[in-house]
Amino acid sequence: MLTIAHQTQLAHQHVKTQLAARPEAKAARKAWKAFATRLEAHFPTLLAELAPLYGARADFLDFLASLLATAFDAWNARPADLQALDVQREKDPRWFQSQKMLGGVCYVDLFAGNLKGVQKQIPYFKELGLTYLHLMPLFKCPAGNSDGGYAVSSYREVNPALGSMADLQELAAALRAEGISLVLDFIFNHTSDEHAWATGCVAGDPQYADFYYLFPDRTLPDAYDQTVREIFPDQHPGAFSQLPDGRWVWTTFNSFQWDLNYSNPAVFTAMAGEMLAIANLGTEFLRMDAVAFVWKRLGTVCENLPEAHTVIRAFSALVRIAAPAMLFKSEAIVHPDDVVKYISPQECQLSYNPLQMALLWNSLATREVNLLQQALEQRHNLDPDTCWVNYVRSHDDIGWTFADEDAIQLGIHGFPHRQFLNRFYVNRFDGSFARGVPFQDNPATGDCRISGTSASLTGVEQGDPLAPARVVLLYSVALSSGGMPLIYLGDEVGTPNDNRYLNDPAKAGDSRWVHRPARVASLYAQRKKTHTVPGQIFHGLRRMVEVRSANAVFAGGHLTGFRAGNPSVLGYLRGMPGQHVLVLANFSDLPQTCPAVVFSAQPAEAVDLLSGKPRALHDGVALAPYEVLWLDCRAA
Ligand code: GLC
Ligand code: GLC
Repeated sequence: MLTIAHQTQLAHQHVKTQLAARPEAKAARKAWKAFATRLEAHFPTLLAELAPLYGARADFLDFLASLLATAFDAWNARPADLQALDVQREKDPRWFQSQKMLGGVCYVDLFAGNLKGVQKQIPYFKELGLTYLHLMPLFKCPAGNSDGGYAVSSYREVNPALGSMADLQELAAALRAEGISLVLDFIFNHTSDEHAWATGCVAGDPQYADFYYLFPDRTLPDAYDQTVREIFPDQHPGAFSQLPDGRWVWTTFNSFQWDLNYSNPAVFTAMAGEMLAIANLGTEFLRMDAVAFVWKRLGTVCENLPEAHTVIRAFSALVRIAAPAMLFKSEAIVHPDDVVKYISPQECQLSYNPLQMALLWNSLATREVNLLQQALEQRHNLDPDTCWVNYVRSHDDIGWTFADEDAIQLGIHGFPHRQFLNRFYVNRFDGSFARGVPFQDNPATGDCRISGTSASLTGVEQGDPLAPARVVLLYSVALSSGGMPLIYLGDEVGTPNDNRYLNDPAKAGDSRWVHRPARVASLYAQRKKTHTVPGQIFHGLRRMVEVRSANAVFAGGHLTGFRAGNPSVLGYLRGMPGQHVLVLANFSDLPQTCPAVVFSAQPAEAVDLLSGKPRALHDGVALAPYEVLWLDCRAA
């Protein structure tokens, strides 16, 4: 057996010789130089990740050579302005931890018609304060149901309904010029069944033979189905779909989304090429879709397997070599212990924070902050080179992914509590202000998730006067707890549920469309009128964005819990003790008081940054329903 060090040396030599022999390596001597420097620095990491996955194969060295050729080609094609950005980002690796960072997400067609329309919205994005814009999937996908574009038929073509590749590149440059980073998805767990690899695989093209998990009969699917979770039980039972020719294919999500087989190194190389092409469009954050599912092993749940991490870290090492300005954002909507495993400087530098998201809604329903306070104290702080993406709503459902082990410590039983939350949010609980819709209600397991816009889940729809304050409260935590806040565009003007998806056969079976409304111009038109609902929400959010961006204590992700002495009031400190801002947030629809005793270590008076008014602390603090205070305790 060769040692890893020896193997590294061999592989490196092999690859270097192969690449150096290529004519264009000479022609692009300058490109080669920068590439070689980064290759030198990151190749050992790349190899250490790839060796356990594919190192036992006889063709391992050939695989490495073709992978690195792919990487070099991508680097060579990388536009000069992006190569300059690479250098800039490498010098300042924590740039995205700034308190000035603010994310937004939208569908191109629903928000602005097409890519050119998105470009016309740049002044609005700047007005809102965005520095990060996630455009929902925009590549070629099947007509009809494409899971909102999450079934990709080509990673090299923009969906013609949205525009062209040139439009996308122009938009990326225009955004970057205004200080807004483009965020795109890397949908790498699966392709659509119309992707050339999929059609080639089914037709028996040897090049694509093992690109997917195809089975001649039910033997293996039945064996796997013993242990895998059903993600979209409404669409098909188990994890597999049958082809017209009788064979079965692995489809974790919809039957037209075919899982890629990463145990085949050719899949890794092919997807690496697509990933780097997406990077070269000007993508600064790559949303790593459905990370949990990319590796399968019989007899396991086929989620969060160690190899899934290895695959992502290998992609990450390649990015450090060929497109280092780009960072990864993990989308793992799983148990909190598993969510954090994707987050590290070497894997995903950012991650959705599904626990905070779910517990915000939990606290709103229960008027108790217990679980959220516990999560902030025990599960929030990350490696300082990484950060959370804190969000209130996404295009997906709300799943109650808190840990049962955490909940039971507070006397909360997971299963019945989730059932309560589901009833509350679909308005099957007396006195609920929410108007949500069930998603993937699974009577076999009792599992169910929730669809609905922030506005509809907080009571905007039925004219509840407290609803705008609820939306602002939820966003206040996303904005102040540390990490990158992300606004689902439409939320900032209180856009309600849109039931028109029910008339579209391609969407009717998927209730998530209820909370993916098209941009409602009339709501945006009211955003500056503070007596209107859109105006109240917009004004509240804008105020917080301004205050946050002006105060460096909100940078980075670190927080310290603060027990506010009232079950409805969330508390935490941002910044160094003694130089901190104390955040208090009342999750109740009634006024609440925090007792004097909890403030004994705080200054006698602090200015609330949001209202600009001083607050005396030593006699206790009273908060109006849903009131949020950002108390500046920094020594003057
Ligand atoms: C991610 C997306 C979701 C999609 C799924 C399959 O979870 O957020 O919308 O259905 O992946 O790609
Ligand atoms: C499941 C998956 C998640 C996906 C979601 C879509 O929760 O774990 O990846 O976003 O389904 O509904």
